[in-house]
Amino acid sequence: MSTADPWERDSRPSDDTGPLARVHVRAPGKINLFLGVGDLDEDGYHPLSTVFQAVSLYEDVIATPADGFSVGVSGVEDPETVPLDDRNLALRAAKMLAAATAYDGGVHLQIHKRVPVAGGMGGGSADAAAALVACNELWRTGLGADRLHELAARLGADVPFALMGGTAVGSGRGDVLTPALSRGRYEWVLLLDDEGLSTPAVYRALDMVRAEDAEFGAADAEARRRQDPVQVPSSFFESLLSGDPFELGQSLRNQLQAGSFRLRPQLEETIERVCDSGGGSVVGALVSGSGPTIAFLCESAEAADLTAATLRVQGRTALRAHGPARGAHLVAGTD
Ligand code: C5P
Repeated sequence: MSTADPWERDSRPSDDTGPLARVHVRAPGKINLFLGVGDLDEDGYHPLSTVFQAVSLYEDVIATPADGFSVGVSGVEDPETVPLDDRNLALRAAKMLAAATAYDGGVHLQIHKRVPVAGGMGGGSADAAAALVACNELWRTGLGADRLHELAARLGADVPFALMGGTAVGSGRGDVLTPALSRGRYEWVLLLDDEGLSTPAVYRALDMVRAEDAEFGAADAEARRRQDPVQVPSSFFESLLSGDPFELGQSLRNQLQAGSFRLRPQLEETIERVCDSGGGSVVGALVSGSGPTIAFLCESAEAADLTAATLRVQGRTALRAHGPARGAHLVAGTD
């Protein structure tokens, strides 16, 4: 196995034009370090103002040539939780790329999952991003980064960021991206829940919380003024640049978590309990995206290892990760 060049293609034939036998791509899960959510737009989406960080929990997608389109999944406890039909985002990505490039063959996608399913960490989006990159290589369709980004945005709001990785500011639906400067490496503990949450259900729950707030808040309050997403404050970018987990911990914010708390009130209690019992080594916490995964930012790798171990002793599933991590990339060799 060669590890010299991360962009090296697997099984590339010597003439460089023949079919590839197999392409392996890895794409990261994400945490929204900041998530401002506006009111529902006519297009059925809520405008966002967000900062993404890719973390070192990766989805692996291996693409092999096939006549039709199919997908297999490993790494999940309950295979029922991942659809293998056209609801599967990776399969949709492959079909979309074939249609966009008039490619008339197919592909089998084998996905190995590490990002929690329906956990608010963009695992399905990472699969789609990895599938786009893998098929573009396998089929030699040669689309550039801009075209891949366009297809990614049509597949789902979080897919473009899974292509890009690192740390980035997202606006619109979260798909209009600008890289953000970030210093250092942040150590995370991800606390999983047994049952996922549906993203649209969490947005709807947020709408309900807001409607009730308006109802009980002011008697008339001109019904209620439209809410724009809270913008990322400049102090947030300063804390990202500081490289100091304490500063970033203070700045973490997720407006959508009011919706997740409404559907699953234990999440709020868990955040409080873990932060209070962490002896100061947990420096920030928030629900990851729409949840129910909770992301705890820790002061050091050792503190994060200890926090994860403590949660596991309590019977919980806790994963360790660091960020920022690379976006979707080819994996060399046969690993
Ligand atoms: O883009 P994605 O497929 O992940 O979105 C799933 C659903 O979540 C959307 O159809 C919409 O109901 C809701 N959503 C939203 N506002 C966003 C993102 C998603 O209301 N910014």
